[in-house]
This record gives sequence, structure tokens and C-alpha cells, in this order.
Amino acid sequence: MSLTRELFVRFNIISILSKRDCSKVVRDFRDVPSPRGFPILGTRLALLAAGSSKYLHEYVDKRHRELGPIYRERLGPVTGVFVSDPDSIRSIFAQEGKYPIHVIPEAWTLFNQKHNCGRGLFFMNGKEWLDTRRIMNNLLLKGDMSWLEEAADAVITGFLEDLEKNGSLGTSLDSEFYQVFLEVIVSVLLGADTYRKHRDVIQQRVDHLAQSVQLVFETTMKLDMLKVKWADKLGLKRWKNFESSMLNALSGTTRMLERLTEECGRGNGLMEMLRAKNLSEDRINAIVTDLFLAAADTTAYTMQWMVYMVAKNQNIQDELRSQLGDPESSYLKNTLKETLRLYPVAPFITRFLPHESCISGYRIPENTLIVMSIYSTGRDERYFDNPLEFLPERWNRENKGRVTRQASLPFAMGSRSCVGKKLAEYELQTMLSQLIKNFKIELLNTKEIRMVMKMIAAPSEPIRLNLKKIG
Ligand code: HEM
Repeated sequence: MSLTRELFVRFNIISILSKRDCSKVVRDFRDVPSPRGFPILGTRLALLAAGSSKYLHEYVDKRHRELGPIYRERLGPVTGVFVSDPDSIRSIFAQEGKYPIHVIPEAWTLFNQKHNCGRGLFFMNGKEWLDTRRIMNNLLLKGDMSWLEEAADAVITGFLEDLEKNGSLGTSLDSEFYQVFLEVIVSVLLGADTYRKHRDVIQQRVDHLAQSVQLVFETTMKLDMLKVKWADKLGLKRWKNFESSMLNALSGTTRMLERLTEECGRGNGLMEMLRAKNLSEDRINAIVTDLFLAAADTTAYTMQWMVYMVAKNQNIQDELRSQLGDPESSYLKNTLKETLRLYPVAPFITRFLPHESCISGYRIPENTLIVMSIYSTGRDERYFDNPLEFLPERWNRENKGRVTRQASLPFAMGSRSCVGKKLAEYELQTMLSQLIKNFKIELLNTKEIRMVMKMIAAPSEPIRLNLKKIG
């Protein structure tokens, strides 16, 4: 049986089993374990005591340990059912239907309504989403990926050359990686040739954009736990800051792309490929603008976690370096997998299922918010031996220890999983291999770095490195 067919059959078996399960199950939604809270305040105090939603992933992890792999809790304005066992997570994806729906931050939805904004894939639903997603799948996930790799290579090669000239990385690692991965998106949109020819001007324009994109995440976080409709109606400063950061980022991106097209031509990258699919300029603009929001923080933070781990574990860094030229080696790939297991930048994945469903033996009404606790699953000793240790070799096929592949899903699963997965994997692995090949990376931080939520998972403090040129 072909691999695709086998996966299809397995997926359907899970789906059928989980539906069948439901008929046997008598447990009601109200019986889903839930923490005790105070009248009116609910469990808000417990969350505040844990450090508010900055440490939401740790808070939820603690709840799972207390209440089990499925529990229900009201956090701020919403009630969610939190799920952390891999089988249930697979069954959720199997039941998500033709048009999977995930949560969009309330502030972003209100902003789009207020400003009548057409947005990209992440914000779309129903048929519009599926039609666009099919086009993007064909371009970013299927067939010949060499153009995408070339676009990433052009940027990473330039970055390494600059690094060799200027010596150091480290003091502002976060903004340097951020800038590079924003440049990769521009290179993907306009094509590698255009990027190489107009690198200077592209770098200047991206530099302006970087701050405004990052500000969107920061200002959204500050709206945390507020009813955003009220924040808007009352004209709260926090809402105004968010609104202007989003306007700046969106109009800044559009302006940047217009200017670059004038200065550098239309190129032969993703934008031109979308034009060939007869999409209108407005629609293309909406789709690509949101790629900057989806692609830069996710890859820049993952890169930071990855260098943090290899700088902290010099033996792993040496092993990586020694296996770099070996085409049979999967150590580099496994280092990325292991990084994302411990530091999934999207530690929660959400779905609203279109019909009443059965999860972990409980009947879940349709349109309930389901939150899959990817962070907890990846750090659970039931699925990984020594789960808190960074061990890329655990992912080797011949590894005899416990490793549950489906318990680490950093890019999600199913038809709404990350459309940029291949690009992300390629650029992160290429960047790490180039850094390791040319430099010995040492960690200057002395304190353990924690994961904090800045909408996605980021390091709690800047990672400082010393790079020593090799050879
Ligand atoms: C380490 C890097 C990355 C991680 C861990 C990551 C993770 C994810 C996850 C978990 C989702 C699914 C959200 C859901 O199901 O609700 C997602 C969606 C998405 N990602 Fe990524 N991502 C990464 C990089 C990228 C890159 C480089 C791009 C750009 C090409 C990108 C573009 C998108 C888009 C457009 C969506 C929305 C897809 C849809 O709604 O159909 N991501 N990502």
C-alpha cells in the first residue's frame, strides 16, 4: 500500500473509531473535569498568580497534571476545552471537516470588521479559505521547491557573508534573525534573482517594516483579558495603540511591496505566480501581507531557541558539525524537531468542530472552543523518555526509547496545518548549518531562559552569544 493511501486509511480509521466511541460513551460535557474557581472571579486569580497569560502554557500544563488530558476552564472571556493526549488530538483533526475553523484573536477580528480589511489565509473561512488554500498548497507545499530554496539561500548566504565581515552576532540576535526572515519572505515574493540584484534597497525597506510588524504582536498582547469591544468603545489607549500598529504594519507592507515593485520590477516569485492564477491585485496583496505576520516571528523565535539549545549543549553542536556533509544524516533535521518539541512557537492550536463530537470519551457540543495543548504533549513523560532533555537523536528511527511522533505537532496537522512548513524547515536548517559550519557558538547568558507568550512563544530575555570563527 502506498504511504499516502496508508495514511489516508489510518486517518479514516481514527475518525470512524472516535465517532463510534461516542455511542458507547455516557459522559456528558458538564462532567469534563474543571478546576474550582471563586464565584464571579472564576479561576482568574489562579491565572494571575501563575504570572497571567505570559505563562499560559505553564499554567495549562499544571492544570493537565492536576485534572488529566482533557479539562474545561473559563479563561478571560472564553471557555475552552483543553486536550493534551495525542490520540484525542488526532481525532480532533480527523473531525475538523472540510473547512476547519480556528480562533482568531478577538482584537484582530474587530479590527478587520471596523476597517473592512480583506485578509490572508489565516483569517479566511469556508469556500474562500479552501480555494485560496488549494492555490497556496500547490505553490508552497507541492512539486518543485527549488525556487523556494533558492529564495531562502540568497538571503542566508548574504547574511553569512555580512557576519563574516562584521564578526559578531548576539547583542541583538532577536532583531537580526527577525530582519533575515522578513527578507526571506520578500525574496520568496519577488524571486531570488530580484533579491540578489536589489539587496541593499530591500534591506532598507525591510528594516522599516520589522518594527511595525513586531509592534502588532506587542500591542495585541496588551489587550489581553480585556473585552476589546469595550476597549474600542471607551477609546482606551491600549486599543488605540493596537489599532495604529496594525494599520501601520498593513499599510507599511503594502507600500513597501508597491515601492519594491516599482524599483526592482515584478520579479518571478510567489506574487507573480499568484498573478498567473488570475487573482486580483487586492487579493494578492491581502494574502502576501499576512505572510509577513505568519512567517517572521515564528521562524525568528524558533531560530533563537535552536541556537540557544546548541550553544547550551556543546556536545550536540560538535555532533552536528561533524555530520554536516553527510547526506545520510538526519541529525540537523532532528535538532529542529527536538527544538520545536520543547519550544513550539504555537503552543496551543485551536479548533471549533462543526458538529457534536466525542473527545476523550466526553460528548462535546458543536462549536465548543477546543484548545490542543501542544506544549504539554511535547513535554509529557508518557510520550517521551526524559522529556525535558534536549536529545535530537531520540528522533532516529533506530532509537529504542519512548518517542511518540504524533505527540509533537508544532505545525499542526490536517488541511489547515502550516502552509509555510516546508519553507520554515528549509530556512531554519540552512541557517543553523551555515552558522555551525563557520562558527563555534557559545552562550553568554548564565540564567535559564524561560518561554513566555508574546502571542507566540518567545524567549523571556535576549539570548546572547559569542561566535568564534572556525578555521
Ligand atoms: C517554525 C516556523 C513555523 C511554525 C512553528 C508555524 C506553525 C503554524 C501552525 C501551528 C499553524 C496552524 C494554525 C492552526 O491550525 O490554527 C500555522 C498556520 C499558518 N502558517 Fe505557519 N508556522 C511557521 C512558519 C510559517 C512560515 C515561514 C509561513 C509563510 C510561508 C507560515 C504561514 C502560515 C499561514 C499562512 C498559516 C495559516 C494557514 C491556514 O489558515 O490555512 N508559517 N503555522
